[in-house]
Amino acid sequence: MALERTLSIIKPDAVAKNVIGEIYSRFEKAGLKVVASKMKHLSKDEAEGFYAVHRERPFFAALVDFMSSGPVMIQALEGEGAVLKHRDLMGATNPKDAAPGTIRADFADSIDANAVHGSDSLENAAIEIAYFFPATDVYSR
Ligand code: PPS
Repeated sequence: MALERTLSIIKPDAVAKNVIGEIYSRFEKAGLKVVASKMKHLSKDEAEGFYAVHRERPFFAALVDFMSSGPVMIQALEGEGAVLKHRDLMGATNPKDAAPGTIRADFADSIDANAVHGSDSLENAAIEIAYFFPATDVYSR
């Protein structure tokens, strides 16, 4: 499997639950390394820009409001097959459908406050990492 990078966001609901360390531990146990990291309170403009591809969807305004409602923890993760591995760790978008033991099953309350974001493809991962981190702030290790 190829070495990949993916973008992960621990959303405001999970940050408020104080489970950043618990979630990082799951990444590390799965062989994913944190290669960039920062906490940030997104402005509405920043959240709208990040989710621009979903602009026409009915939940767009709610998603932007939620993602700018409190600080998030943003990280780039590196590892073999990192994009899919991270999606597997997160579980289904709707926590009601998330497999037991996944991050969303354990920490998310609803589809509109679902604890974590993860890039859905290698192509989007590169775009999303660059949205938050200049290349000089991402450390291969
Ligand atoms: S996914 O995971 O990208 O395939 O899911 P998708 O259905 O395309 O959803 C895109 C993002 O929108 C969030 N979402 C919602 N937010 C608020 N309310 C509702 N009903 C809702 N449905 C989906 C979903 O969590 C995705 O955000 P991210 O940050 O990528 O998880």
